Amino acid sequence: PRSIFFSRHGESQYNVEGKIGGDSLLSPRGMEYAKALPALIRDNIGDQPLTVWTSTLRRTIQTAEDLKYTKLTWKSLDELDAGVCDGMTYEEIEEAYPDDFANRDEDKFNYRYRGGESYRDVVVRLEPVIMELERQENILIIGHQAILRCLYAYFHHLSQDDLPYIKIPLHTVIKLTPKAYGCDEERYAVPI
Ligand code: F6P
Repeated sequence: PRSIFFSRHGESQYNVEGKIGGDSLLSPRGMEYAKALPALIRDNIGDQPLTVWTSTLRRTIQTAEDLKYTKLTWKSLDELDAGVCDGMTYEEIEEAYPDDFANRDEDKFNYRYRGGESYRDVVVRLEPVIMELERQENILIIGHQAILRCLYAYFHHLSQDDLPYIKIPLHTVIKLTPKAYGCDEERYAVPI
């Protein structure tokens, strides 16, 4: 059976600073994750073929750097666009846009950042990615938190209400094996 692997990029400089969005590079811990990833994947799939998909953002490309497989970058895999809030911390957003902050809490799936996107928008832009994913063999996606929540919810048939709160930890590979009904799942955390 074929497998779909999901991983967030390694910890980024913005993750360390608590800022959302952006296009920062990996932190030293994130780099350690990128170094550990090839052995983890190889121990899991051995010599089977694999294709690695990243977004166009530097933190996913950097995380995939040492993986010796065919790679493809997808603009559609870029992180949810936080519009005017890009590069801010949640505290700064609450301070600058208190109503927006409350609205997002009220309906996180439908809340659209000013000049940016909602989770609903992201689900729509991921449709071609999902169609391609359904046709492919072993794929490893090095992605972002909001993006992987949408993909994970698709494969596990989770509701729109639950989707924006799915836990997709850093430095963890999630392996899904599609079955006739639903998917089997395994998780591999890299202690760093
Ligand atoms: O903080 C990392 C991050 O990927 C941000 O870039 C993004 O805006 C956020 O997570 C998405 O998570 P949430 O929807 O819970 O804010």
